[in-house]
Amino acid sequence: MQSFTMYAPTEIVFGGGAEEQLAAMVRKHGGSRVMLVYGGGSVVKSGLLPKLEELLSKEGIPSVAFGGVQPNPLLALAREGAVSAREFGADMIIGVGGGSAIDTAKAVAHGAANPEADIWQFWKAERPLTKSLPVGVVLTISAAGSETSSSAVITNQETGEKRGINTEFNRPRFALMNPELTFTLPKYQITCGIVDIIMHTLDRYFTQTGGNELTDEIAEALLRVVIRNGRKAASDPKDYGAMSELMWCGSVSHNGTTGLGRPMDFSVHQLGHELSGMFDIAHGASLSTMWGSWALYVCGENPERFARYADKVWGITGDTETAALAGIEKTVEYFRELDMPVCFSDSRIGVQPEAVAAELALRCSFHEKRLVGQFKKLDRNDLFSIYKLANR
Ligand code: NZQ
Ligand code: ZN
Repeated sequence: MQSFTMYAPTEIVFGGGAEEQLAAMVRKHGGSRVMLVYGGGSVVKSGLLPKLEELLSKEGIPSVAFGGVQPNPLLALAREGAVSAREFGADMIIGVGGGSAIDTAKAVAHGAANPEADIWQFWKAERPLTKSLPVGVVLTISAAGSETSSSAVITNQETGEKRGINTEFNRPRFALMNPELTFTLPKYQITCGIVDIIMHTLDRYFTQTGGNELTDEIAEALLRVVIRNGRKAASDPKDYGAMSELMWCGSVSHNGTTGLGRPMDFSVHQLGHELSGMFDIAHGASLSTMWGSWALYVCGENPERFARYADKVWGITGDTETAALAGIEKTVEYFRELDMPVCFSDSRIGVQPEAVAAELALRCSFHEKRLVGQFKKLDRNDLFSIYKLANR
């Protein structure tokens, strides 16, 4: 096991009515004027946003709502939000929704606390982030894990770049997690979320670093729970048991626990981000599109690891090579069962000219300035080969 630091400071209130704790949590974590950042309107339609505004107002906490965040959230809106937050004098930013609203809340918090900087400088690592405003969360979808994670992902619409930053300033101070708030989700968003939760675990599980028994077994248990409850949730979004398992798995899959003691891989996320940056497809769909092709391409680097995954998660045993491949096939089949795309032609991207795969690889390698992943360090040619495998 490699040495590690674990820092997961988010206070979690989980269960029916968790959102009722908003004013108390704002006060407890030092807020007195808050901005509520939300998406395209699901929280207005469900009545959640007016309810939160009322809860705050009853406790004498002024608030302003800032909406319009779209999936694959845009830098331009985060910039606007930072200006509005400063004008309002907000001292805490609350993300109300999923990864897109929460990541925008994080970006707004960084921008509002650093008026001399442009937010994108932090994402491009051109300027270190040394201060921010505190962020809180009211979660409405189990997926990105942003409610407890150290990352935030934003798209620069001018360049088509979708980029994440990891910093402890991204860790929300609190997250209010009521599974009932996810009952209004369309099936497609539930299944995108299931894929994302699985992938936050797999992008840490596939590693060349051995000797991590607890981390491995937590990851394997989490995967089995998500797969089992994912099927139930996809067929009945009002199944409280299934939706609460997904919600908790979503946080644990991405708060660091499933990857302690080894380097993270995250190749599939990087491959997927380029697809979302170029074609604006949902994050979960970008991951299911790429995973099978990545897995087949890198499996030979450590088939024993893939065979272990097949055994512990899918109950497949046999000789190493056969079990490794069967585990990959079973995962891809599961994505298909959820109606998630597993190649370009399954989604609205469609089969692309080879030049597009080449451009995606170039962008993903940051114009050959980086290698991607750890399980196998992927250069531009490797990335090109993987995109070509998925382009069918
Ligand atoms: O915008 P509204 O109207 O709210 O609708 C949203 C949106 O259309 C809808 N939705 C959410 N809760 C709902 C609901 N509809 C009905 N009822 C509800 N209860 O779902 C759609 C998707 O929302 P979004 O926030 O985009 O989903 P998700 O949580 O999957 O977030 C995806 C974003 O997070 C990033 C992704 O790249 C993507 O940009 N990620 C962030 C991470 C992080 N910060 O740690 C890690 C992830 O790997 C990921 O990259
Ligand atoms: Zn993800």
